[in-house]
Amino acid sequence: MTSSVFQPDLLANQVAVVTGGGTGIGIAIARVLGHMGATVVIASRKAKNIEPAAAGLSEELGREVIGLTCDIRDRERVRAFVGEVLERTGRIDVLVNNGGGQFMAPAETISDRGWDAVIATNLTGTWTLSRAVADQWMLANGGAIINITMLTQRGFPGMAHSVAARAGVDAMTRTLAVEWAPYGIRLNCVEPGIIASSGMLNYPGGRELAYEMQREIPMKRLGSCDEVAWQVAFLASPAGAYTTGQTFIVDGGRTLWGNTWAIPETEPPPVDIRLEPWQEER
Ligand SMILES: NC(=O)c1ccc[n+]([C@@H]2O[C@H](COP(=O)([O-])OP(=O)(O)OC[C@H]3O[C@@H](n4cnc5c(N)ncnc54)[C@H](OP(=O)(O)O)[C@@H]3O)[C@@H](O)[C@H]2O)c1
Repeated sequence: MTSSVFQPDLLANQVAVVTGGGTGIGIAIARVLGHMGATVVIASRKAKNIEPAAAGLSEELGREVIGLTCDIRDRERVRAFVGEVLERTGRIDVLVNNGGGQFMAPAETISDRGWDAVIATNLTGTWTLSRAVADQWMLANGGAIINITMLTQRGFPGMAHSVAARAGVDAMTRTLAVEWAPYGIRLNCVEPGIIASSGMLNYPGGRELAYEMQREIPMKRLGSCDEVAWQVAFLASPAGAYTTGQTFIVDGGRTLWGNTWAIPETEPPPVDIRLEPWQEER
């Protein structure tokens, strides 16, 4: 359930669009922004994800949460979707690019098609929607864009395609933050660590994997969807008014320590410390 640390009227009269808002982290983001008073639009590809979430959140908030289908890889649909949102709500103050996904695979097994699909969703999809919202609303009116990515500081073995896409989003965010600052648009990234979201169950053995991964997190637990949503709420609210082009890591210290990928053990070579001819080993 949503924290009460955010005042209920912080986003009153504002409109927030959350992609991937029908599942996991996206629902938590939609919920917290809704509780802060925003009119919320959630969108993703599948009506079976969006419709029950829109109905459930509408009931919870006591006002309509709009649910629309949109595949962020389909550029024409994305532009039409933004038009549809503006027609229904009149404005878009906050865009949360949370929709995305990938499959886990050793790099040497990723096919061209698999690589292209992950880049198309996570990098190009984020660009396409951000650009459409900017063109149709934010360049004239300002706003906040928050991109949900993943931990990019270290390598992310098993997800070479997605970490490349997300690092691209990080760099794009810093760049657009500068280019679009004069238009009153702020852009930031939130990088979740390992989060106990329903999305985890999409991976084979996801629950067990998540359980084991807790050992490699300094705080020794998974993050919750709400803990990611609260960071987004901060950035969407007036508390984030002077913050742009930054990346916020919500990972219980995961980036700082621990392993996720077993590198095969080999017998280490002898330690080769070369001495000069006039030096003697002590
Ligand atoms: N859970 C974690 O530990 C974790 C960690 C780091 C980053 N993340 C990222 O955080 C975001 C949310 O993840 P989650 O854990 O909540 O997993 P999730 O439930 O699988 O969320 C992904 C969402 O993206 C939507 N989506 C996928 N492809 C799309 C497309 N082409 N167009 C529009 N929407 C699309 C999906 O809905 P449809 O299937 O209906 O399209 C789904 O609602 C994802 O970008 C994920 O990669 C998660």
